[in-house]
Amino acid sequence: MKPFNDTLELLMRHRSIRRFADTPVTEEQLEAIVGAAQMASTSSNVQAYSVIAVTDPGRKERLAALAGNQAYIRECPVFLVWCADLYRLREVTSAHMAPEASHIDTTENLIVATVDAALAAQNAAVAAESLGLGIVYIGGVRNDIAAFSEALELPELVYPVFGMCVGTPAQEPVLRPRLPLQSVLHRERYSAQETVERAAAYDETTRAYMRERSGGTSDTPWSVTMAHRLAQPARMQMKEFLQSKGFMKR
Ligand SMILES: Cc1cc2nc3c(=O)[nH]c(=O)nc-3n(C[C@H](O)[C@H](O)[C@H](O)COP(=O)(O)O)c2cc1C
Repeated sequence: MKPFNDTLELLMRHRSIRRFADTPVTEEQLEAIVGAAQMASTSSNVQAYSVIAVTDPGRKERLAALAGNQAYIRECPVFLVWCADLYRLREVTSAHMAPEASHIDTTENLIVATVDAALAAQNAAVAAESLGLGIVYIGGVRNDIAAFSEALELPELVYPVFGMCVGTPAQEPVLRPRLPLQSVLHRERYSAQETVERAAAYDETTRAYMRERSGGTSDTPWSVTMAHRLAQPARMQMKEFLQSKGFMKR
């Protein structure tokens, strides 16, 4: 599909950046990025998220170590940690209601806060890219979520959903192809058979992509990569951790 305006063109050029130049992100850029994030839609205007901008090298080092030792967390000038945040909501509403009258601890509100954080973050990603910066999301913040949360002094009812490295790109990766549009776009109703059939073609696309990216040493198709991924138990502590922070009690 050919983009027919500058916004679509920017969106279609997205690729994660994992190497950054030694150029700071200015305060003005950071505030423009977070300002754009704030204008994302938010469930009933709850704005149930916070973002922590980390620039201190020592703190980035510690966070990188806790998030799978991903070097780009150290190297990026700004590491943003996007948090689902019901703490602020609990505090501001506490003057108006008894704690036992509040349903803040439901699974529904965990979803609300997590979705809010993700929508704000993606606005920030697009804003950063529009300024010529590059980003990569970091789910590794949940590898050791208790220690990560402690390092950032996150209170009850706040958890880190993902991080985001932001900075000037020092690499130009090829775009990663996505599933065929017809696999993800259903018309009028869910097409169970078609979504799977259309996805099959993606194995060939991803094999070619992997061959190019690895200089010919790998050509693992997407379905195999996904099978390996699903065979690993990942971050099994999440439910217990979230409940210990006051989320998802019912
Ligand atoms: C929530 C989330 C977490 C991610 N976590 C990581 C991560 O920890 N490390 C990493 O290198 N990339 C991470 N990524 C980047 C994805 O691997 C990347 O977006 C995906 O492979 C598509 O590639 P592209 O962004 O270059 O188009 C994450 C992406 C998302 C949305």
